[in-house]
Amino acid sequence: ETVDVTGQFLLPGAIDVHVHFREPGYTHKEDWRTGSAAAAMGGTTTVFEMPNTNPPTRSVKELRQKQEAAAKAHVDYGIYGLLAEDNIDELQGLIDGGVNAFKCFMGNTFGNLPSPSTGAMLEGFEIIAPSGLRISLHAETASIMAWRQKRLMEAGRNDPLAHIAARPAIVAAEAVSRAAELAEWTGARIHILHISSAAELRPLAAAKARGVEITGETCPCYLLLDSRDYARLGSIIRVNPPVREASDSEAIWAALQSGVIDMIATDHAPHTVEEKTRDVIWQADCGFPGVETQMPLMLNEVSKGRMTLEHYVAISAENPAKSFGLWPHKGRIETGAHADIAVVDMNRTETIRAEALHSRGKITPFEGVSVTGVPIHTLVRGRFVQRDRKLVPETSGWGRQVTSIQAMPKPTIRNADQTLAASLQAPAITAEGAGP
Ligand code: NCD
Ligand code: ZN
Ligand code: ZN
Repeated sequence: ETVDVTGQFLLPGAIDVHVHFREPGYTHKEDWRTGSAAAAMGGTTTVFEMPNTNPPTRSVKELRQKQEAAAKAHVDYGIYGLLAEDNIDELQGLIDGGVNAFKCFMGNTFGNLPSPSTGAMLEGFEIIAPSGLRISLHAETASIMAWRQKRLMEAGRNDPLAHIAARPAIVAAEAVSRAAELAEWTGARIHILHISSAAELRPLAAAKARGVEITGETCPCYLLLDSRDYARLGSIIRVNPPVREASDSEAIWAALQSGVIDMIATDHAPHTVEEKTRDVIWQADCGFPGVETQMPLMLNEVSKGRMTLEHYVAISAENPAKSFGLWPHKGRIETGAHADIAVVDMNRTETIRAEALHSRGKITPFEGVSVTGVPIHTLVRGRFVQRDRKLVPETSGWGRQVTSIQAMPKPTIRNADQTLAASLQAPAITAEGAGP
């Protein structure tokens, strides 16, 4: 198979560490075939898929179910295990069973998984830290949001902007700083998902400065949309955490440029058109598809001169690979060289249309946006999964689970002698030892 790529750019395929493919459990929204087809069409060659499916990926049993569903993928993938209050005793099994990372929902979101107490989180961090696997945080503090939403609902607020009011940036900033404390204490590697506010950047930068193993991502919606878009988009824009003020997106752009934010991910969160378009904001599902539109939207920013192509490669492929243990060889030494490539045409202009998306979620806040810079071919381990803007349908099943971490040095475990597991084993203090 050959194609003429004269005048095109060959980029490493994007590695998107934050997608929801909904299978098992919510396949009317998406499944592994449609979600990974969207990835292939978007120039993304590896995705890390989230555990808020039904059942959630809470033990080895559900991990095996997910691996079965994922076998139809067009692109390579990592699988997240859940870190929650009720599966602490399953974490080691998930590590041994081959999860690529963990997600901890500090605040409620789609799937309504209860957020763990800080005590349960600490024990979870202690268990996961020695594995070196990264723990990704949905960093929003549940108790603040629940209180504010209750007060807003009592006051009869049900318009789209009430979603921001229920989740002011303190919600995220408080959670980031608490997660960073736990990571520093335990030596766990952590990652802050979907950074949406200027306020989160201070605890993130401070944690980095004192040597905490912490990385951060933002998503196109936080860079390209702001509160002025709520009137136009209504409930479509509803996402957790919310799209905020223009000053927040300015700060997020600056943090991406300076390296405080390490990478771009999509939080690809498909729902049906009906689930997204509701008159009462509290009834609209949160999130929207993104894995197919990320690369065109960001290449469009490259076209406009807002970032260099080299920087885009760093935040879309290099930094996620380093952070999630896929550097330098993606952990799959047995396959030899892996040509995961997006061929991009920086002169091609397209208009984003929800109905043309390969995701089952045919709705996007970027409807009608014209983008210059499009991935026209995608190769996963040397094989075309997208060719000339067309999916190669027979590559369903070509995707493989990646292996995280072997290439990364083991982290230093701090305070190992004070873990809950160590404390449970400590001998009782005897009467003689207690002094006079
Ligand atoms: C995500 C989803 O729908 O699964 N929704 C969202 O608004 N981001 C869940 C999440 O990542 O919070
Ligand atoms: Zn989340
Ligand atoms: Zn998400």
